Amino acid sequence: MTPAFPPIRAVAYGSAEYQRIVTFRETWLRRPMGQVFTPEQLAPDADSMHYLCEENEAIIGCVLLRMESAELARLRQLVVAPDWRGRGLGAYLTRHVEAEARARGARSMILAGRDYAIPFYEKLGYRVEGEGFLSVGIPHHTMVKSL
Ligand SMILES: CC(C)(COP(=O)(O)OP(=O)(O)OC[C@H]1O[C@@H](n2cnc3c(N)ncnc32)[C@H](O)[C@@H]1OP(=O)(O)O)[C@@H](O)C(=O)NCCC(=O)NCCS
Repeated sequence: MTPAFPPIRAVAYGSAEYQRIVTFRETWLRRPMGQVFTPEQLAPDADSMHYLCEENEAIIGCVLLRMESAELARLRQLVVAPDWRGRGLGAYLTRHVEAEARARGARSMILAGRDYAIPFYEKLGYRVEGEGFLSVGIPHHTMVKSL
C-alpha cells in the first residue's frame, strides 16, 4: 500500500520555488562532499521538469525529469530529506516521475545512480547497465527501466 504523503507538485524552472529546490538539492547532494553546484551542473535544469513534495512549507523530497528523446526519459536529482528516508517517499517520487514520463510518451527511464542507492533503484525495477564511473567524486552506474 502506498503511504499517505503530501501531493507532489510541479514547479516552473527559474521560479522562486525552483530556487528552493536547488538549495535543497545542494544541501543534500553537494554540501556533504564540500561542493556546491557549478553552472554546468545546473544547465540541464533549464529543460527539466521540477517536482517537490513538502510538509509544513518545508521541502521533504524532490526529483527532476528530463526527456532525452521522444521515448527516453531521465530521472535526475532524487533527494529525500534525511528525517524522511526509509519511509517510502523516494519510491513515491520515483513512481510519480515514471508516470509523468509515460504520459509524455517515454518507453524507458535512464538515470545515473550513486552506487549506494543501487539496491533502492533495483527494488523499483531498474537494472545496472555498463561499467561504473565517477561523478562528483562518487562511484555511479547507469541504470535503466522499461516503462
Ligand atoms: C536514495 C533515497 C532517494 C531513497 O529514498 P527513501 O525515501 O529513503 O527510500 P524508500 O523509503 O522509498 O525506499 C524504498 C525501498 O528501497 C529500500 N532502500 C532505500 N534506500 C536503500 C539503500 N541505500 N540500500 C538498500 N535499500 C534501500 C527501502 O528499504 C525500501 O525497501 P522496501 O520497499 O522493501 O521497504 C534517499 O536515501 C536519499 O535521498 N539519499 C540521499 C540522496 C541520494 O543519494 N539520492 C540518489 C542519488 S542517485
